[in-house]
Amino acid sequence: MTFSQNADANVFFSCWKSPSNIALIKYWGKSGNQIPANASMSITLKEAYTLTRIKAGLIRNGGGPEVEFRFEGEINEAFGGRIESFLKSVVSYLPFLKEARLEIESGNNFPHSAGIASSASAMSALALCLCSLEKEITGLETGMEAFLRKASFIARIGSGSACRSVYGGIPVWGSHKAVEGSDNEYAVPLSFDLHPVFSEIRDTILIVDPGQKKVSSSVGHNLMKGHAYADARYKQAESNLTAMLVALKQGDWDTFSLITENEALSLHAMMMTSRPGYLLMHPNSLIIIEKVIEFRKQSGSAICFTLDAGPNVHLLYPAGETENVRPLIDELKVFCHKGTAIDDTMGSGPEKLNCR
Ligand code: DP6
Repeated sequence: MTFSQNADANVFFSCWKSPSNIALIKYWGKSGNQIPANASMSITLKEAYTLTRIKAGLIRNGGGPEVEFRFEGEINEAFGGRIESFLKSVVSYLPFLKEARLEIESGNNFPHSAGIASSASAMSALALCLCSLEKEITGLETGMEAFLRKASFIARIGSGSACRSVYGGIPVWGSHKAVEGSDNEYAVPLSFDLHPVFSEIRDTILIVDPGQKKVSSSVGHNLMKGHAYADARYKQAESNLTAMLVALKQGDWDTFSLITENEALSLHAMMMTSRPGYLLMHPNSLIIIEKVIEFRKQSGSAICFTLDAGPNVHLLYPAGETENVRPLIDELKVFCHKGTAIDDTMGSGPEKLNCR
């Protein structure tokens, strides 16, 4: 496998835009090389994405990859270091990297401090660019399904949740008996059509605190090793995923809400009961949750909440309820950092761009 002998053809470009996601069934706990302790499922978002462009050139010593990384126009050594070690860890799956010099430019369309998980969009965009480069440079022709599967596999090694962002809609990552073709090493799209009530799910992200979280996700995953409730949690996630599949097929928002909230609170319960235990919710996250539950009781709305590994609250509701829930969201902005709420919606997945 070598670059083309034609000197002018020895430069290749790849550019992808890839979205963030919010998990409905949470991935929390892993082993080995990014193997999840339970299957997870998420909504791929539309508006919050990373755009990554790679210019790849040839080096002849085979000691690559050599990397220069710019984040939002600036050389970024902290991110660059993480990307370099990620690239080294995937060389055996992408051997062309040994002969490559990569100039990587990346940027998010949401502020870095918005409290939106950026590793999912960043690592999926990077994995898609690398797989596109492999295809161009080596002439490898696999078809779209195998291409996306490999991109998801590579993204997983960068960050587990990133492997789901390779697909639009509601993908599943992790082996689960009710999802045909599901695998611990890559995500798969759902094999059935969502019931129409789930065809346009809105996600309004209430930014309670945009700051860096006190305990990283990788530390949190690690604390699941030897956790007193680990086995029960993995069983709960498995049965929640089974029930969620039925709800998504049947258009059952009540069950969707029940499971989504159960997963969010269980995730945070795992953090609180880790050793040492810790809290990522803030007092304002709790106020918001109480008010959402109260609003739902009073109005009969379908709105529900979920949480990432942080204090920000995601509000999920059908697009048809956008006007109904607006007064609630306006009221809740008081509990947000500088009144920030970001509107997003379920999206159709990454896009390859022509950006030479
Ligand atoms: C709570 O994917 O960030 O968001 O694999 O260590 O990069 P690493 O972890 P990461 O964990 C995400 C945890 C979560 C739930 C989820 O997205 O499923």
